[in-house]
Amino acid sequence: MFQIGPYTIDSQVVLAPMAGVTDRPFRQLCRRMGAGLVVSEMVTSDTRLWNSRKSALRLDHTGEAEPRSVQIAGGDPQMMADAAQMNAERGAQIIDINMGCPAKKVCNKAAGSALLRDEVLVGEILDAVVGAVAIPVTLKIRTGWSPEQRNGERIAEMAERAGIAALAVHGRTRADRYQGSAEYDTIARICQQVSIPVFANGDIDSARKARTVLEHTGAAAVMIGRAAQGRPWLLREIDHYLRTGKELAAPATEEMLQILTGHLEALYTFYGDYMGVRIARKHVGWYLQQHPESAGFRKHFNQLETTSDQVNAVSALLAASAAA
Ligand SMILES: Cc1cc2nc3c(=O)[nH]c(=O)nc-3n(C[C@H](O)[C@H](O)[C@H](O)COP(=O)(O)O)c2cc1C
Repeated sequence: MFQIGPYTIDSQVVLAPMAGVTDRPFRQLCRRMGAGLVVSEMVTSDTRLWNSRKSALRLDHTGEAEPRSVQIAGGDPQMMADAAQMNAERGAQIIDINMGCPAKKVCNKAAGSALLRDEVLVGEILDAVVGAVAIPVTLKIRTGWSPEQRNGERIAEMAERAGIAALAVHGRTRADRYQGSAEYDTIARICQQVSIPVFANGDIDSARKARTVLEHTGAAAVMIGRAAQGRPWLLREIDHYLRTGKELAAPATEEMLQILTGHLEALYTFYGDYMGVRIARKHVGWYLQQHPESAGFRKHFNQLETTSDQVNAVSALLAASAAA
């Protein structure tokens, strides 16, 4: 369907990198659910911080399907180049550069989408990272720094010239944060301008919307973020619709329970029981957002302290809904 360096990606659905969400268990689940490409949570380019448990878990790709794309964040070209190299040595097969994230922690160090204001620095980072590794480097941006300085098109051109293999574009500027709606006109212009694959990102939450955005922009793929939280089957619904033009029904309660408990088990294995139980709480909250008993159940669920209590609680809730 589209190519990133030596990798042929056989689906037009890409999972967006989300810190605190797209950990290895969620990425593996999303691959099984039809994402052709998943991107890790961002890893800081400050390799001195890699000793922390958080970074160590983010850098762990054991058992992950190819191609393994790892996102790096930072604002110093040499540090970004070193981080890219070290990730490649640890099994990354694609390096993704974060110039799309408005998170404070990153932006205070002039990284993520804050970089878009400084095009010279953007160029230096792109050249340094592409020059440092033999594997493909991709880039994630917003449409620009601000509505007045919507320089996404210039950055896209620079990226292609620098040898970037694919470009994800979130249809908001850095100044927009998450306000308003994503716009796809700038993404469409970028797609016309460059010949590398472009992923259209922002507010895509259904199969029909995915197709509309692809038609409007001419992008190679859609990149799905928040809508996949607690709803990983959306990825296969989109994939199916794009391939066949037919809508795939949402999973029946039994299958949903199977997916959810599988996800919980993967979290416990990956993080260990103590952390796994805590991380499971937010995912379960997302899965059950639409459930009529969501509010009361969450209160109860968030007090459970063991893996078996958690699995039993979601099983009982969903078994009751299936029987109803
Ligand atoms: C919780 C959360 C964490 C995110 N972390 C990252 C990140 O680590 N790197 C990045 O490039 N973008 C990050 N983003 C931005 C998403 O990748 C995506 O561009 C944005 O959410 C818009 O897509 P959506 O409307 O499909 O969610 C994050 C977004 C959310 C909601």
